[in-house]
Amino acid sequence: LKDERESLMIVSGFAQKFFTRFLWEENEGRTIGLSYFRERSFRDDVMKKFEVGFAPDGKTPFTDAALKQGYKIDFLEKTGLTIKRDDWLRDRFAGRVIFPIHNLAGRVIAFGGRILKDDKKTAKYLNSPESEIYHKSKVVYGIYQAKREMTRTDKAYLVEGYTDVLSMHQAGIENVVASSGTALTAEQIRLVRRFTPNITIIYDGDAAGIKASLRGIDLVLEEGMNVKVLLLPDGEDPDSFAKKMGASAFLEYIKEHETDFIRFKTQLLMKDTENDPIARARLISDVIRSVAVIPDSITRSVYIKDCSNLLGVDEEVLYNEVRKQKQKQN
Ligand code: CTP
Ligand code: MN
Ligand code: MN
Ligand code: MN
Ligand code: MN
Repeated sequence: LKDERESLMIVSGFAQKFFTRFLWEENEGRTIGLSYFRERSFRDDVMKKFEVGFAPDGKTPFTDAALKQGYKIDFLEKTGLTIKRDDWLRDRFAGRVIFPIHNLAGRVIAFGGRILKDDKKTAKYLNSPESEIYHKSKVVYGIYQAKREMTRTDKAYLVEGYTDVLSMHQAGIENVVASSGTALTAEQIRLVRRFTPNITIIYDGDAAGIKASLRGIDLVLEEGMNVKVLLLPDGEDPDSFAKKMGASAFLEYIKEHETDFIRFKTQLLMKDTENDPIARARLISDVIRSVAVIPDSITRSVYIKDCSNLLGVDEEVLYNEVRKQKQKQN
């Protein structure tokens, strides 16, 4: 099985090199793929750092090249690079720009492929299927490129998407990883925790992003980590916002708007609960639920104090509520 995993990584490495070479050197890759990245203002050095590429359009140009080089159809199928049915083959990523997904050691284990023109009919991103080397719930995009800076700064930014990671690097922020659109998991958080206990969530500034941030907060707290949140203006994500603002204004915005989770939650929820005591009570128990999942009691008491100040509720009362919540959670 170890051999099989190695074989899958070798074929994935071949595919990455093929897609990257195709992007930079072939006419189709340059006029379609490279133009796409350039229109979105990605710099060459960032494209190279992330080893992005382009998969030639057509039925099986990639598969043909791989088979010709001696790669086995079995491994092409298991990595999902080739879709195989009884009587036909097809390249999974044909005609898409490619974001390779690296493991901690920098080996390519999977791919995300984006269509060039958004339309409602086609999924914007296609991803590799689960395989012996790729378990998407255990991987965060960008970890290999971020790990050194996460250690140095003792902090990690968590974003939603591939292009958010690239744009943050381009703006000079390299301690950034993406959950890649899937619901965040405890395993992904533990992977980041190997480098730093401090996470700031910067999800898209839309309803889905806010909802996912709230869920992410509790997960990060449960893992005993510190969590902050940065809310972007409506409709922006880190990529679009960094490009709109320019790098230095973007950095400034982050510094100014990064908020502690408890402040984020209370401010977000307070908006809807003014003059409504029942809604206000629900808000308080919502915030308390987050505090109750924090494993460390000293950290918990610090947050209870904050909470008491922010919500104007007596600390004793909050302690009691946390205690009740903890009993429920166990
Ligand atoms: N995603 C996915 N499949 C989709 C849509 C999204 O896997 N059909 C994942 C991708 O990892 C994507 C992330 O979810 O990067 C966030 O989705 P979204 O915000 O819709 O895309 P962006 O990352 O903003 O992509 P872009 O800027 O290229 O439009
Ligand atoms: Mn496995
Ligand atoms: Mn989104
Ligand atoms: Mn987005
Ligand atoms: Mn985007």
